[in-house]
Amino acid sequence: MSSVEALRRDSRTAGTVRRPNVFEIDLTAVKENLDEIRRFVGAKVKIFVAMKANAYGLGLLEAASVVQDSEADAIAVADPNDAALLRDHGIKLPILLYACAVLDDSIARLAEERDVIVTPTDLTSARALSKAASRPIKVMPKIDVGLERLGVPVADGLKTVVEIASLPNLKLAGLYTHMHVPRGEDNREYIDWQLARFSALLGELRERQVRIDVAMAASTPVLATIGPGRLNAVDVGRMAYGHTRSDVDDVGPMRIRPTFISLRSQLVQCKTIDRVEYLNAAPYPLRPGMRIGVAPIGYADGIDSLNCGVALVRAHRVPIVASPSLEHTRLDLSDVPDAGAGDEVVFVGPQMGECIGTEEVLQYQGFDQLTQMAVAVRSSVPRIYHRPGK
Ligand SMILES: Cc1ncc(COP(=O)(O)O)c(C=O)c1O
Repeated sequence: MSSVEALRRDSRTAGTVRRPNVFEIDLTAVKENLDEIRRFVGAKVKIFVAMKANAYGLGLLEAASVVQDSEADAIAVADPNDAALLRDHGIKLPILLYACAVLDDSIARLAEERDVIVTPTDLTSARALSKAASRPIKVMPKIDVGLERLGVPVADGLKTVVEIASLPNLKLAGLYTHMHVPRGEDNREYIDWQLARFSALLGELRERQVRIDVAMAASTPVLATIGPGRLNAVDVGRMAYGHTRSDVDDVGPMRIRPTFISLRSQLVQCKTIDRVEYLNAAPYPLRPGMRIGVAPIGYADGIDSLNCGVALVRAHRVPIVASPSLEHTRLDLSDVPDAGAGDEVVFVGPQMGECIGTEEVLQYQGFDQLTQMAVAVRSSVPRIYHRPGK
């Protein structure tokens, strides 16, 4: 049995036949990465795990079941539906809903019924939530200290948070920010400036007797650059999933392991092209005796963003010819004449001692984050998981 076949049998769609495509994910790494982060931040700092975008492409519920049994203290999601799904599937950890929805009655119901912490970003939304609430809802306002995206501008922070703390049926559970960290530069001073703005606000709130139990600022690059600082919570995404890159991300003393193991398919047909006419009109440059193979994975599956121009077949690097079509990709097998239908095709990952690394694909595609690759694997590609203890 080929490894792709074995993986198919292991997939969540056992009993049905699907195209032989597989995104192989190591969830054991999520647990181990969170162990590393815990060792780094110490026992007293709360770890929120950012699980936006279907847990950074890995699969929300599968990743959450591992996060739940790990060193994490809470989960953060952007889509209200994700918060509801997590609760309905038995996730007991506190859930923070990032600021990605207008705070109306439906968000109040979600917060009340599923115990979700809501993020107000201004007074208008906080007042609307307070009005819609029929019992106390936990809130963690977000402060914008430099990303210039979502959040209360730090200059308005004191007035806004003081009023939010006084609104009926809102319970201030904490305060957070998400800093701007440009890639590939020495950002320490810039991060320190943003952190100082957040800390100054926390100090002013303390003077006004506003109690902030959770003060959170550190996403992956912040944690790697300055550690948790003086704050008592971090919210990491990429680092938990091993989406950091050894060539660009400094993760300090932490040993962070990748979750992205492989993206594989199978040849479904191989043939020799013997066409001699209309060569100029051919879909790709043809050579006499050229042998091609077809893998049933295309741009609808995300493969156009998930290759480095070659794939592995029988441990040979074979060129991808032409742009992938909707559900097919052609390979030039001229150098692997014995290759045949059923052979494994690896677009990312190892094969018989050879390997196409994620960093090679990132470079080829001009991406700077592994997350861009993981979220490019469409839901049409079955995920298979290695889980802790299994
Ligand atoms: C508010 C917030 N906190 C934390 C994170 C996690 O960032 P990272 O994946 O760099 O750790 C994100 C991700 O976009 C975010 O929006």
